[in-house]
Amino acid sequence: MKKFTVTSFQNAKKKGEKISMLTAYDFTTTQLLDEAGVDSILVGDSLGMTMLGYETTLEVTMEDMIHHTKAVVRGAKRALVIGDMPFLSYHVSVEDTIRNAGRFIKEAGAHAVKLEGGVEMVDKIKALVAAKIPVVGHIGLTPQSVNMFGGFKVQGKSAEQAQAIIDDARALEEAGVFAIVLECVPSELAKKITEVVNVPTIGIGAGKDCDGQVLVIQDVLGMYKGLQPKFVKRYKETGDDIIDATKAYIQEINEGVFPAKEHTFTIKEEVLEKLY
Ligand code: KIV
Repeated sequence: MKKFTVTSFQNAKKKGEKISMLTAYDFTTTQLLDEAGVDSILVGDSLGMTMLGYETTLEVTMEDMIHHTKAVVRGAKRALVIGDMPFLSYHVSVEDTIRNAGRFIKEAGAHAVKLEGGVEMVDKIKALVAAKIPVVGHIGLTPQSVNMFGGFKVQGKSAEQAQAIIDDARALEEAGVFAIVLECVPSELAKKITEVVNVPTIGIGAGKDCDGQVLVIQDVLGMYKGLQPKFVKRYKETGDDIIDATKAYIQEINEGVFPAKEHTFTIKEEVLEKLY
């Protein structure tokens, strides 16, 4: 089995092959996604909402991220694992950024990190690349800036905004990222960015012309009942399956159907007779 690496991202773009990415936050799910052949797994800070029940990603800590990234790394045999740097883990200083990104690689075993932001993040990205830490950029709608955006809104609809996002993409490429996540931008803008930069673009709500796509696994599996952006496609309604299975389990306990003989251990009659 050939591992999907940072170089595979570049090769895929050159050959015009699409890159598949999904989020995952635990060992079991990762094993399944890896077996299915997904190229890359993002341990997104979206785990704040999907796993920890927060309203936004802002509360997620480095400890949360390291804990979940370790589990994902143990489950991934082929996919490239990317750790998402949480809010304020890369905003204070270059030193802080390297130290925190380094934890994803050294402690958790991730292959790369992702951070949000464009032009303003160039010095941090350059420092990470110099420290041999592969970086994925993330521009467009960057959820950690939700308070600056005034909500989760499509970005880049005006010429000024769209040009700023193109400038961000160019700056990220220049700084040395090996891929760029484009979130919630018009598809025409994503196409233009995909054409002007040499690094692969990974879209989420950015149309089909990106070099790859990423979605949150709970959305794909139809498990998450919270906010449902327009760009989400639910491939299964696993949430309903979980509810049905749980109801059946409860009912079988109540009716004495479960556990049945095949789920039960026994001891020999003569051993039983010795007991008092
Ligand atoms: O945290 C996350 O899951 C993400 C993706 C949605 C790109 O950043």
